[in-house]
Amino acid sequence: MKVAVTYNVPLKGRLDSEDVLQQVNLVVGSLKTLGHEYCVFPVGGERGKGVGMPAADRPGGGRLSIGESVFFLLLDLKKFRPQVIFNLIEETPELNIHLQYFAVIFELFKYNFTGAGYESTLTTTDKALSKLVMNYFGIPTPQSQVFQGVKERIKLPPPWIVKPALEDASVGIDDSSVFTDETALLKVLPDIYTRHGKQPLIIERFIDGREFNISLLENEEGEGEVLPVAEMVFRGWPGGKPKIVGYRAKWDSASFEFKNTVRHFDPADAPLERMKALALKCWKVFNLRGYARVDLRMDRDENVYVIEANANPCISSDSGFMAAAQKAGLEVKDVVSRIINSAFFKTARAARAAG
Ligand SMILES: Nc1ncnc2c1ncn2[C@@H]1O[C@H](COP(=O)(O)OP(=O)(O)O)[C@@H](O)[C@H]1O
Ligand SMILES: [Mg+2]
Repeated sequence: MKVAVTYNVPLKGRLDSEDVLQQVNLVVGSLKTLGHEYCVFPVGGERGKGVGMPAADRPGGGRLSIGESVFFLLLDLKKFRPQVIFNLIEETPELNIHLQYFAVIFELFKYNFTGAGYESTLTTTDKALSKLVMNYFGIPTPQSQVFQGVKERIKLPPPWIVKPALEDASVGIDDSSVFTDETALLKVLPDIYTRHGKQPLIIERFIDGREFNISLLENEEGEGEVLPVAEMVFRGWPGGKPKIVGYRAKWDSASFEFKNTVRHFDPADAPLERMKALALKCWKVFNLRGYARVDLRMDRDENVYVIEANANPCISSDSGFMAAAQKAGLEVKDVVSRIINSAFFKTARAARAAG
């Protein structure tokens, strides 16, 4: 098969951003093993520096604008004529809506592409919208309200966690994101709002308890298959320190938080079937495709809440998704192959269903 691997040139020095390069290497390695023809298409980055295939003749100097990036990408894709695009575009400096932006472009130009489509990327990347969808479909999620720069009373009982609505990878989430005092929260909200470029902030009930991640991979029938349930255990956590998987826990390998958030699979004392059913419901409600990961929390009374559904989750070798796949007995190349097949055979399946 002819596969185009698209990715965004990451922001230098930002680990959550540079991680995309690991994913590119992993996908390319698998494409080689699987014997597919492929070409890698970076989006963004410096002018004249390897942007798409015929980059050499492009004028040098400065970073490409989003418009130019899209223009060159489409031009290069048209020349390469891929059967499938492996879409690893995660972010662009100018755009908080990167995921849905590229999904809609690929849909418009009728490319088969991996991962979620426009509708799902829209509803899963915006945390405010995501919660509306979950509430509508009866998926339990912590109560929340949105702050958009206008001072308002907090209508929910404490404690709370404050999260920028359009970020992922725990960007903007650390111990100082958790509050128990309304006055303290109201005082700092405008600063947090400004610091995150005035994107809406989600003020959510903080679920003090256990954390689980459930990865799903599409099977041959086009259904989501639930992989083993991972619990993130907070080892030796000091009393009073919020049990959260914040930015440091995800990205700073030297930190206490990184070293002491440990993944355990299928813990016998957790309501695994109930959580798996919720993850599958998210797969269906958000119309997810290929691969996804659902983050959940459980309080002390065993109430389970969906924190978020992630379309196109990280698939680098040390990611939660790959750990779950490995636990299920899958090799990296099996995962890559299934993700590609889900994109390629989707069209065939749709035709079969229609006819
Ligand atoms: N309502 C909540 N209660 C408890 N912890 C939360 C809550 N929301 C987020 N967290 C913590 O913050 C982490 C990141 O939040 P999440 O909403 O998943 O954002 P991101 O998209 O950045 O991953 C979660 O994995 C969890 O540890
Ligand atoms: Mg998350």
